[in-house]
Amino acid sequence: MKAIVVYASRYGSTREIAEFIAGKLRQHGVQAEARSADAAPDPGDCDAVVIGSAVYMGHWMKEAMEFVRKNRAVLADRPVWLFSSGPLELGPGITSVDDPELEPEELGELREIVRPKDHKVFFGALDPGRLGFAHRALRKLPAARAILPEGDFRDWNAIEEWAGSIARALAVSAR
Ligand SMILES: Cc1cc2nc3c(=O)[nH]c(=O)nc-3n(C[C@H](O)[C@H](O)[C@H](O)COP(=O)(O)O)c2cc1C
Repeated sequence: MKAIVVYASRYGSTREIAEFIAGKLRQHGVQAEARSADAAPDPGDCDAVVIGSAVYMGHWMKEAMEFVRKNRAVLADRPVWLFSSGPLELGPGITSVDDPELEPEELGELREIVRPKDHKVFFGALDPGRLGFAHRALRKLPAARAILPEGDFRDWNAIEEWAGSIARALAVSAR
């Protein structure tokens, strides 16, 4: 059983989530590796595909969407799991990362193209010292400041549990 975990990450925290998921899949006996969407990986010889993107201003990164659109035929024919890495804090009125408010704008299109087994939102991380100019400026806006606090909010237990659920699904389908 071979899987690829494709990610789009601006500052590295989503890449680390993807690498962690690939590592967990390997522990479960799945031959898995994490690859940047930038590198245009070929999912053709994989039995399963996991795709994750950081979310910026409500959107998946364009490299991730390009990967999905370019490989739509292969992806429609494989089990696909999606994740988004973003929220640093739950905004007003939002009680969990499963709230539809936190879903990326592209999720409708993604669902249509790949019919994912699941889409999961994970908390992200923000290191102000690493932000590019535009992101630093955006973060200074009063509305953004409240929802973009500094820190690493990634919930490794939630990510591990999700990776385990993928491994279990693949084990069942391999039988
Ligand atoms: C300018 C800016 C805008 C952001 N917009 C969103 C957003 O709309 N939704 C969200 O969930 N997270 C948002 N985030 C949080 C990032 O998605 C989070 O920091 C993520 O972990 C970054 O991943 P990366 O390190 O892989 O680039 C934003 C972060 C910044 C700096």
